[in-house]
Amino acid sequence: PAMKVLVFAGSTRQQSLNRQLARVTADMVRASGAEVTHLELGDYDVPLYNGDLEAQGTPPDVVRLKHIFFEHPAWIICTPEYNASYPALVKNTFDWLSRPVAGNPEWSDGYKSTRGKVVGVLSASPGALGGLRSQSHLVPLLLNLQCWVTPQSYALGRAGEAFDAEGLLLSDRARGAVQGVIDQVLFAAQRLNG
Ligand code: FNR
Repeated sequence: PAMKVLVFAGSTRQQSLNRQLARVTADMVRASGAEVTHLELGDYDVPLYNGDLEAQGTPPDVVRLKHIFFEHPAWIICTPEYNASYPALVKNTFDWLSRPVAGNPEWSDGYKSTRGKVVGVLSASPGALGGLRSQSHLVPLLLNLQCWVTPQSYALGRAGEAFDAEGLLLSDRARGAVQGVIDQVLFAAQRLNG
């Protein structure tokens, strides 16, 4: 069966560069023979984490997200860089994902939806470094969630000029680098889930 890959961006902005990169990446993953779910975090109603709120019951969309992340052995995340790190949206999403669901034995293990996942990290930024500094914080977060992060990653710099009118990546070098990450994600996910 085809490997199931979850592709998502750490931005909900309409004109988000990382959402564009996620769209291109999802197409390339599909062309590589895998089954792709392109997740839009903006479609889910996930409040800022608060333990009192959680005590009243885990928000239904958090439980939905747990199912989606759990069902995909491989993920590719396209993260923006905010102040040399990743955005609060990304942290908040993973903080909720890492929590057990009270009263739900199916989700008593907090790391059930993240443990053992193979994750490729991409970033995009209008700046020259492409959000590279977000990655050096995101990788330890993913490791703490017990993910396997691929050795190769890619930061798309000058991302405002990187896409054509159809939203495709203009440069062969950028496409090759994204494909390199995809190849490693599929390689590792197939071996870990063989
Ligand atoms: C930014 N931006 C930014 N860019 C960068 O390369 N390094 C940085 O440290 C920051 N810091 C930062 C902080 C905050 C609060 C904002 C709102 C933005 C710019 C950022 O890369 C740019 O807005 C991207 O377009 C955001 O990603 P999306 O939404 O286009 O995917």
